[in-house]
Amino acid sequence: MKRYNLFYALFILTNSLMAQAKFQEQYRPQFHFSPETMWMNDPNGMVYYEGEYHLFYQHYPYNKVWGPMYWGHAVSRDLVQWEHLPIALDPDSLGYIFSGSAVVDINNTSGFKTGMNAPLVAMFTYHDMAGEKAGRNNYQYQGIAYSNDKGRTWTKYRGNPVIPNTEGVKDFRDTKVFWHEPSKRWIVVFAVADHVRFYSSKNLKEWTLTGDFGKNQGAHGGVWECPDIFPLKVEGTKTTKWVLLQSLGNGAPNGGSGTQYFIGDFDGKTFINSNTPEKVLWLDYGRDNYAGVTWANAPQNRRIFLGWMSNWQYAQVVPTDPWRSAMTLPRELSLKKTPQGLRLIQKPAKETEILRGVNFFSKKNITVDNTLKINDLSQFLCEVQMDIDLTKSTAKDVYIELSNGKGDIYKIGFDVATNRYYSDRTKAGKNDFSEKFSPTIHYAPRQSSSKKLKMHLFFDKASVELFADNGETVLTDIFFPNEDFVQMRLIANGGKVLITDMTAFALGSVYAH
Ligand code: FRU
Repeated sequence: MKRYNLFYALFILTNSLMAQAKFQEQYRPQFHFSPETMWMNDPNGMVYYEGEYHLFYQHYPYNKVWGPMYWGHAVSRDLVQWEHLPIALDPDSLGYIFSGSAVVDINNTSGFKTGMNAPLVAMFTYHDMAGEKAGRNNYQYQGIAYSNDKGRTWTKYRGNPVIPNTEGVKDFRDTKVFWHEPSKRWIVVFAVADHVRFYSSKNLKEWTLTGDFGKNQGAHGGVWECPDIFPLKVEGTKTTKWVLLQSLGNGAPNGGSGTQYFIGDFDGKTFINSNTPEKVLWLDYGRDNYAGVTWANAPQNRRIFLGWMSNWQYAQVVPTDPWRSAMTLPRELSLKKTPQGLRLIQKPAKETEILRGVNFFSKKNITVDNTLKINDLSQFLCEVQMDIDLTKSTAKDVYIELSNGKGDIYKIGFDVATNRYYSDRTKAGKNDFSEKFSPTIHYAPRQSSSKKLKMHLFFDKASVELFADNGETVLTDIFFPNEDFVQMRLIANGGKVLITDMTAFALGSVYAH
């Protein structure tokens, strides 16, 4: 009996130690979503239903690199703390399950409803690997699946594919479906090589092509992927405009994968760009925000965005274990009229405030003429807001620097002379896993012309997000210091800087309780 008790105690102890160690690995994001283990890329099927935000994601559950694609699944009530759920969709005889979206079919237009809940319907791309290997060109086509138990289990529709690839276009993927009230139809947009196509449907099963957009519009440095389209009110007006997010596999401002956006109108059939075709607007100037899309059906008409915090140039070789990749913070989108025209604004969703712990730094009107120590922390997770009066500053360069005992240094700041924000991870730690990772500094041209410069930053274990000037310029980068950064300093180079307001919070880990 005694022996049995000892074994039992040991069993409990090992289990609880393991539970603690989980999610405590070096580089494990502490307040960004990451898969428990193995590979993740794009966010998929983001839909809100009955108090839960669903997040599905491109997932390969048997390796830390891309492979046969499944939809992993997690839910959250506050967009910050996530519960991991079993895999929602797995490959079948029609192919791997590539990116797509999900909707709540409130009026049961699909006829999939069986019980009390409205059916959730997911629309995704099938990728037939056997077809690709055999040299065919029609190996991507669209399918649907439904759930009558709040997304817990899914059934694939027997009539798949619902949009076959009759023309044989190799890149024919990434469905974003939404309800269009004026035409009382479902609309789906997806990427077809160098443009997007629109189809409409009454029941999510039968689709008719209505239009296309993009052949000679915007940036085309890589294949178009993962579109999203939605209406947004222009701040402070009654005008509504439509935003089309368009990721492209290559050709982003700082290299590799990135996301551009268009502003215009949607007439029920196609998108009409309000800008000239040459105009390119970038969502994020960092290297690590790709394939981002927004939640369907979010309460109060909110438009909340989440991106994959990596870049195809090195995503499969970053030094994390036993998982790869994380998502960005959830971001609230809005549209603002600026002197240059309408621009998309991104702010951290207000739910991120629940992460705030000690307000360890708070000062107004301080002049820094060289170095200001902000913090020494054993674990570096924090949010910093800093306002600078440019009219009373002479510095040529002002930045926040993170460092550790191993000599790793990460810098994020503002280059006054060239009017650009920047992120410098060239000496921030491990980078030998890919020569594409950190050969250069990443620059983000400042959009705002206000004399008051505002930087709002979130530092997790292995990432930074900068929302500058109330979300007008955004930059997301990942990094891999040899050990956690523990020191933070503010540095003014070549002159002084007047900080009108600066506040910093320690941020809690979502795994702490
Ligand atoms: C974008 C993407 C999508 C595709 C998916 C495959 O990152 O290439 O176009 O559906 O990833 O995992």
